[in-house]
Amino acid sequence: MSEKPHHLAIIMDGNGRWAEARGLPRMMGHRAGVEALKSTLRLCSDWGIAALTAYAFSTENWSRPGDEVNFLMTLFERVLQKELRTLEEEQVCIRFLGDLDALPLKLQELISEATERTAANAGIHFNVCTNYGSRQELVQATRALALQVQRGELDPEAIDERALAAQLHTAGQPDPDLLIRTSGEQRLSNFLLWQLAYAELHVTDVLWPDFDAAALTNALVDFQGRQRRFGGVQEEI
Ligand code: IPE
Ligand code: IPE
Ligand code: MG
Repeated sequence: MSEKPHHLAIIMDGNGRWAEARGLPRMMGHRAGVEALKSTLRLCSDWGIAALTAYAFSTENWSRPGDEVNFLMTLFERVLQKELRTLEEEQVCIRFLGDLDALPLKLQELISEATERTAANAGIHFNVCTNYGSRQELVQATRALALQVQRGELDPEAIDERALAAQLHTAGQPDPDLLIRTSGEQRLSNFLLWQLAYAELHVTDVLWPDFDAAALTNALVDFQGRQRRFGGVQEEI
């Protein structure tokens, strides 16, 4: 039996389908998705989960129609502006993982401000993956190590799992124990390929805007029933 996860990762999927099922534009699904994220963050914090990592925008999501991409960027800006004070009050330590340089300048500024203002907070670690792609992250980490070797600062023999992990956006953070994906899709969509090596997977048909305390409880109960073996054998109890 496992305890509750220390670090929960979520692929928040199904906003568009949630809206379409109601005859609404996809954008309304994204708006509703923000509410689901806010309540999930609060639940995780209340239930003593130390870290939450949420997939908000992938490097592949730029291929969506321009209107939807613009709407999402503006939504991120608005939500950050509106929620920063609450995040501070609730002791959340927020970070944004991904290639942030490609984001609109205003969003980059808000991200810097939120990161700085919450850095010393002692509560839940909240990672928002924004313009995040795991393959891009691994390429950038490899390049950083190659540069250190070229400069004579690093012996190639010293490159091990720890050295590579230290170059990832998640450097210094423990790997997720549990990955939840909503909307029934059974794929990783370029999310945390390295970090999820031994995570337990929970896929639910619930669409992200409908993800609530009951859905989170189901995932946590599912996790508690798992036997994590990490390649070993199950000990007799
Ligand atoms: C997830 O919901 C949010 C983002 C990827 C930004 P989707 O927008 O992917 O919703 P579906 O999968 O089309 O229903
Ligand atoms: C994954 O969802 C990305 C985020 C949740 C931000 P997508 O909807 O983009 O994934 P695919 O296209 O179904 O694989
Ligand atoms: Mg989707």
